[in-house]
Amino acid sequence: MTADVPKPTIEHGEEFWLTYMRSYHRIFSELPPYQRMVDVAASALAKTDNILDSAAGSGVLAKRLLQAGKHVTVLDKYEGVLELLRTHIHGHGDRSIVAQADANEPLPFASEQFGGVASLLALPFMDNPDMYLDEHIRVLQSGGTMVVSGPSTDVRKVTITASRWFMELRNAGVTERQDFDADWEVLLTSIAKTLAEGKIFHWFTVAEVEEMLMKKGMAIVQSTPNPLYYGYGYLVEARKQ
Ligand SMILES: C[S@@+](CC[C@H](N)C(=O)[O-])C[C@H]1O[C@@H](n2cnc3c(N)ncnc32)[C@H](O)[C@@H]1O
Repeated sequence: MTADVPKPTIEHGEEFWLTYMRSYHRIFSELPPYQRMVDVAASALAKTDNILDSAAGSGVLAKRLLQAGKHVTVLDKYEGVLELLRTHIHGHGDRSIVAQADANEPLPFASEQFGGVASLLALPFMDNPDMYLDEHIRVLQSGGTMVVSGPSTDVRKVTITASRWFMELRNAGVTERQDFDADWEVLLTSIAKTLAEGKIFHWFTVAEVEEMLMKKGMAIVQSTPNPLYYGYGYLVEARKQ
């Protein structure tokens, strides 16, 4: 019987992402483990310039790179998300290009155009992670650095992770904010929807991401579990040979 009932799917369209990214920004930009993930990515990219930040979201990494004097191209699929991002990078150097594009399609950039490529918390949402990585490697110069991060592979850890996030936010005084409860609910609901019925959602381990990148001719420089998830997920730095 149940086999005949079609499963509802969560459409990760613009409305979903814009609602999610507004609350996500107000919480994650104050969350120490998220900042640690951004720190690792920014330091991996410290020796590069002309960086593509793919699926850039609210622009925390882009702002950090601009503040470090980098030229940054930010790409996201949704114009509403890019509007939000513009408000966060505004005034942090006139060295950004904002590109609206679907990262599931061939990227609108020349081969070897970028000295660095960042893809934070984006790979799981792509239709075809393999093609996504191929395209991001194509636009990266030889010798250039790529940073790829993603979430935990173990759904059961999410509840534990969220309670640790909450404690860190409480210690930082963020939970006292008037709008915190609403943002927290949006954040958790969005994550839960994604986990429960994500239309397309790819889980990888550190080892699987390393293997995919190495098969594509990338050299692994360093890899760690993702600090955002306290030891789960992945944060991999690789170099194009
Ligand atoms: C979880 S957020 C990560 C944002 C940012 N990289 C960060 O680490 O905070 C995922 C982002 O991917 C974007 N996105 C989803 N599908 C996309 C696609 N097909 N092409 C480009 N961006 C996409 C969403 O709009 C959202 O901003």
